[in-house]
Amino acid sequence: PGTDSVKILEVSPRDGLQNISNPIPTSAKLEFIHRLIGTGLRNIETTSFVSPKWIPQLADNKQVFASALEMTRGQDINLPVLVPNMKGMEQAIESQASEVVVFASASEGFSRENTNCSVEEALLRAEAIVKVALQKGIRARGVVSCIFNCPYDGPTKPGAVLNVVRRFLEMGCYKVGLGDTVGVGTPNDVDSLLRVLLTEIPVEKLAGHFHDTYGQAISNVIKSYDMGIRSFDSSVAGLGGCPYAKGAKGNLATEDMVYTFERAGVQTGIDLAKLVETGEWISKTLNIPNGSRAGAALAAK
Ligand code: HMG
Ligand code: MG
Repeated sequence: PGTDSVKILEVSPRDGLQNISNPIPTSAKLEFIHRLIGTGLRNIETTSFVSPKWIPQLADNKQVFASALEMTRGQDINLPVLVPNMKGMEQAIESQASEVVVFASASEGFSRENTNCSVEEALLRAEAIVKVALQKGIRARGVVSCIFNCPYDGPTKPGAVLNVVRRFLEMGCYKVGLGDTVGVGTPNDVDSLLRVLLTEIPVEKLAGHFHDTYGQAISNVIKSYDMGIRSFDSSVAGLGGCPYAKGAKGNLATEDMVYTFERAGVQTGIDLAKLVETGEWISKTLNIPNGSRAGAALAAK
């Protein structure tokens, strides 16, 4: 076994739940976060300080975040929160968040639908947010959406992704996630994009955020890993999706990724059995099929 390791950002409480229309009780979200922590996950995107008009499921964001913070007090656990605008940033400050996630699309169509503004306007918004965050000693991370394809504009040019990544790093984000929002990309696309990005972006500044609509996400993670990326976003039971990217499925299931890496001797710091149990628990709680292939198979054993 090798001594290599990867860093996982569990995005299920935010990306995983934002697309679910039935109201989920706050208490269930908190039990979910508690269980995720119990698996060894140390980076958990807890919620989004977004308008309930845009994302109704996360209307209890303040309560969820406050309780999660209380739950993790004294432990080395990072709880990033997504913020779409300055109002969300103010809420993040009031809530004592120590890391915020800002986002922008590489394509104009999704930018309009998801954030009601152009890519340039979204970047200026993010820049203002990151400036305030850094003044307050809050870390900032960026995510680029539609790295391969946009549900409104079609294929994305690698140069458009490079532009957004570059801007996020210039404004002070410590890392940038590469979001295949619609989940259509293949390892060949990862190769083409990373060849362009890595001409100027240090590989440790990048993370993979692959949705799994076409079942390509694990292959995309392996391809990214082979090209040097060591940070990945994923979601237990494959939960996730964006209400403004119709038809897009969840993020890569954390169970599938941990299974792959552990079998390659790559450390994840996660207890796979507990992760599988958590994936089963949340699927039953939400009354939906478990979207993790490895999770469902291991649970059936
Ligand atoms: P807008 O309508 O242009 O903004 O939307 P606005 O400033 O006019 O605000 C509209 C209303 O929302 C106002 O209320 C505001 O006060 C309120 P009204 O006056 O109508 O009563 N409001 C808020 N309330 C609470 N918290 C806030 C907040 N902000 C405004 N923070 C805006 C612009 C950016 C706000 C909107 O487009 C928006 O929130 N978009 C975000 C949508 C979203 O969260 N999408 C999912 C996350 S992104 C994603 O999933 C992709 C990712 O996973 C990566 C990938 O997979 O690619 C990250
Ligand atoms: Mg996403």
